Amino acid sequence: MRLKNKVAIITGGGSGIGRATCQLFAEQGARVVVADINQKGGKETVALVEKAGSKAVLVKADVSQEDQVKRLIKRAVQAFGKLDILVNNAAAFVFGRVEDATLEDWNRVLGTNVLGPALCVKHAVPEMKKAGGGAIVTIGSISSFIAQPDYVPYNTSKSALINMTRCLAMDLAPFKIRANVVCPGVIRTPTLQRIIEERRMTPEEIQREWGNYHLLKRLGEPREIAQAVLFLASDEASFVTGTHLMVDGGYTAH
Ligand SMILES: NC(=O)c1ccc[n+]([C@@H]2O[C@H](COP(=O)([O-])OP(=O)(O)OC[C@H]3O[C@@H](n4cnc5c(N)ncnc54)[C@H](O)[C@@H]3O)[C@@H](O)[C@H]2O)c1
Repeated sequence: MRLKNKVAIITGGGSGIGRATCQLFAEQGARVVVADINQKGGKETVALVEKAGSKAVLVKADVSQEDQVKRLIKRAVQAFGKLDILVNNAAAFVFGRVEDATLEDWNRVLGTNVLGPALCVKHAVPEMKKAGGGAIVTIGSISSFIAQPDYVPYNTSKSALINMTRCLAMDLAPFKIRANVVCPGVIRTPTLQRIIEERRMTPEEIQREWGNYHLLKRLGEPREIAQAVLFLASDEASFVTGTHLMVDGGYTAH
């Protein structure tokens, strides 16, 4: 068990990569706090964690709202007595060209994807200090590094997480708190499924537009991302901080 006796908060734990991370963490002995705005998805994840033999609580929290983040951290410590791991996974998917993005779009994407992780870290750190250390894993993307057509708001938000993490790693190292980013390629999650349905993409189009860009010539699965999050959250990564791990099937290698 790689996370025995650990307590982890996973934001956006009610779906996709967040859910797979909750499940894998539970299998590895962690007690899990599922934080999401989606109650239904969150409840399903709690049931999956319990099925995996661990304990979970669901906290309804919008990571862009500081009062809700404060409450989330408080509830986690009330439920399980401490906090060791924070996974910043929740995201808003706001795409488009700069001419089309509204002020509301920018506030939503930066509020959820940049301010959200910053607020979660801010309020988690005092608890991690009490616990004698901790691990923060934030979900970036291939979009943290590359340009993609009509992706300005999302990619701006995802690139900010890389340097936020380096700065966090520097400031938090004295307290034995590590901070790292996992950058997925294109992963089969409910959000991707929604995009596929909206664009009415055929399997051939999915392969041509996304699959073929990965050296491994396929999309990734949520659990393949969760495995990387597990490594960085665990003591096996005790000398890893301030960096990012591409889990992108080679998408950004060429
Ligand atoms: N799916 C991909 O191809 C892909 C690729 C690269 C990076 N990512 C990143 O992986 C992470 C998870 O993506 P996914 O595809 O699993 O998404 P998903 O939509 O399946 O799950 C995201 C979850 O976050 C929750 N959420 C959204 N806004 C929130 C908020 N303000 N507060 C709390 N919860 C909120 C949603 O309710 C949802 O349950 C995101 O950070 C995303 O940017 C995904």
